[in-house]
Amino acid sequence: MTRVFSGIKPTGNVHLGNVLGALQHWVEDQHRADSLYCVVDLHALTVPQDPDELRSTTLRLAQILLAMGLDPEVCTLFVQSHVHQHAELAWIMECTASYGELSRMTQFKDKSDKAGFVSGGLFTYPALMAADILLYDTDLVPVGDDQRQHVELARDVAERFNSRYGDTFVVPTATFPAAGARVMDLQDPTSKMSKSEDTAAGTILLLDDPKVIEKKIKRAVTDTDSEVRFDVAAKPGVSNLLSILGAATGRTPEQAAEGYTQYGPLKADTAAAVIERLSPIQARFAELAADPAETHRLLAVGAAKAGELAAATLTRARANLGLLAAT
Ligand code: TYM
Repeated sequence: MTRVFSGIKPTGNVHLGNVLGALQHWVEDQHRADSLYCVVDLHALTVPQDPDELRSTTLRLAQILLAMGLDPEVCTLFVQSHVHQHAELAWIMECTASYGELSRMTQFKDKSDKAGFVSGGLFTYPALMAADILLYDTDLVPVGDDQRQHVELARDVAERFNSRYGDTFVVPTATFPAAGARVMDLQDPTSKMSKSEDTAAGTILLLDDPKVIEKKIKRAVTDTDSEVRFDVAAKPGVSNLLSILGAATGRTPEQAAEGYTQYGPLKADTAAAVIERLSPIQARFAELAADPAETHRLLAVGAAKAGELAAATLTRARANLGLLAAT
């Protein structure tokens, strides 16, 4: 059976880009493949975190994933730091990736330009991400477009390791949705919607009130003519709304454009579709948030399942590398 793995960082708040670009596809994939989904808390440590905040964001993110419809009876849902093999294989991946490859990662360049303190972990982050993926013999990695380069690196590192030390890792492939792979900021449709950017009016949060969602979409930047067509270069704002409407209703952006001649109705329908998509998740989240002990229990089950798979892969990698077995 096809193996799927993906992850999300517990930093900031989950936004519409995460939902349409990745999370809603995880929910679908869990029924088609043997799927593992991970709250990647070690990745959050690349920038300094407040400990209480990190703990609560990690738990809340797991509850959001459950509220979206991930079913721990069907898939494996766990927290990265609960499976220690991630950090261990990450070191091996750091020694397999080259300095040049890591230097070429555009996310590192963007983030290190903006950060006052640039940790070593921010630089080696893609090696940890490669470890996450390779530990589970992953075939497919459903992600948004911004993770393309990182999954490409995981492939290159897997191939290099296999050619140096013999067949050890499955070489993974990234998958991207037909609509929603790159949801843009509503106020600046040339930048991606992001949880770390300070663009409250341009970012729809999963837990935003319906009234707030409506307001943000009504105020979304469009352009001065009034033609509704999907053309990212010429009409980034309108194209972003069409991508959102398409992704929220299971259509391509081009299909979503059909029948609109004005921006007003397009915005009203996009807001309605987003609210319809998010409201049931919000209601379910409120129920789950009231019972944290149950979430902890489910995460422990997930970590035990993931840990077994991870241990087998790490043992294979250690043996092929020539690390002396501990007896
Ligand atoms: P993260 O936490 O930034 O984002 C989680 C998922 O959401 C997607 N995404 C978007 N999709 C469309 N439009 C947007 N504006 C948008 N913003 C975010 C991301 O592409 C991602 O799929 N490095 C990863 C987490 C990670 C991971 C992994 C992913 C760690 N290990 C192994 C896959 C496999 C990250 O920071 O995602």
